[in-house]
Amino acid sequence: MATFHEISPNASAGAKTLNWIDNRFPLSKLFKEHMSEYYAPKNFNLWYIFGSLSLLVLVIQIVTGIFLVMHYKPDAALAFGSVEYIMRDVPWGWLIRYMHSTGASAFFVVVYLHMFRGLMYGSYRKPRELIWLFGCGIFLALMAEAFMGYLLPWGQMSYWGAQVIVNLFSAIPLIGPDLALLIRGDFVVGDATLNRFFSFHVIAVPLVLLGLVVAHIIALHEVGSNNPDGIEIKANKDANGIPLDGIPFHPYYSVHDVFAVSMFLFVFSAIVFFAPEMGGYFLEYNNFIPADPFQTPL
Ligand code: HEM
Repeated sequence: MATFHEISPNASAGAKTLNWIDNRFPLSKLFKEHMSEYYAPKNFNLWYIFGSLSLLVLVIQIVTGIFLVMHYKPDAALAFGSVEYIMRDVPWGWLIRYMHSTGASAFFVVVYLHMFRGLMYGSYRKPRELIWLFGCGIFLALMAEAFMGYLLPWGQMSYWGAQVIVNLFSAIPLIGPDLALLIRGDFVVGDATLNRFFSFHVIAVPLVLLGLVVAHIIALHEVGSNNPDGIEIKANKDANGIPLDGIPFHPYYSVHDVFAVSMFLFVFSAIVFFAPEMGGYFLEYNNFIPADPFQTPL
């Protein structure tokens, strides 16, 4: 056990509180190790903001998702109507729903740019292989999360989109048809499908996603970031063991990231408030028609 650290009785209330916590939980130690004394290369460029932006979008999706679930009904007879109810009658419901639908698209935009950076600078190579592999897991979970979320409004595109994608699994030799049946829980996309997709979308996949993101960042902080020039900053340290080409993450990159977050929120808000449906590209016209198993959309 770490030694108990006494503090002067004349210290401020804040310092006393922090000392009380630090004697029981490594708060200052974690802050130093991962923020104020975590050294990152000094030459990050614009491509290095998309990890933080992915974290931001993850938080937006979780928070808006929690509020959507308060009025959404995972029932084939009620789902479509409950979404319309959120849009028209729930106070600020339209904002929560548009933030969640826009956030889903934004997630893929920022994650693709983030992955492109990794490919461009060879960040998947030694010693960062596990960061990349956890990233691949994150990407798979994200695709599953988005696909299952898209069924929930129970519109025509939701229904037939799920029909098409689940049928892809039935093309797998031998086990395909049984696998598709297992995924749907019925011979057609139906109420059982909606309920299990809801369960996976709201709790199972987000838990996996969160676990993988934590592993991704722990792996990153173990080996440190790559950078546009590919210089290993840990190879060149001063007498105190501080990388000569590094700067503390906090305050230098925390400020950098807050600026990037502000710029992102300008664009995100413009879409949410002025073009949330993006002329039918983000929310398709056919998804404003309730699911109809007897009629495919045009
Ligand atoms: C929810 C999704 C994700 C989150 C929240 C996330 C978060 C982060 C953060 C905060 C960083 C450090 C900042 C940066 O370098 O941008 C990072 C680095 C990295 N991420 Fe992700 N990431 C996500 C998805 C992915 C995916 C899908 C891949 C690739 C398949 C990936 C591969 C990498 C790599 C290789 C690095 C190190 C880059 C370097 O040092 O040059 N990440 N990630």
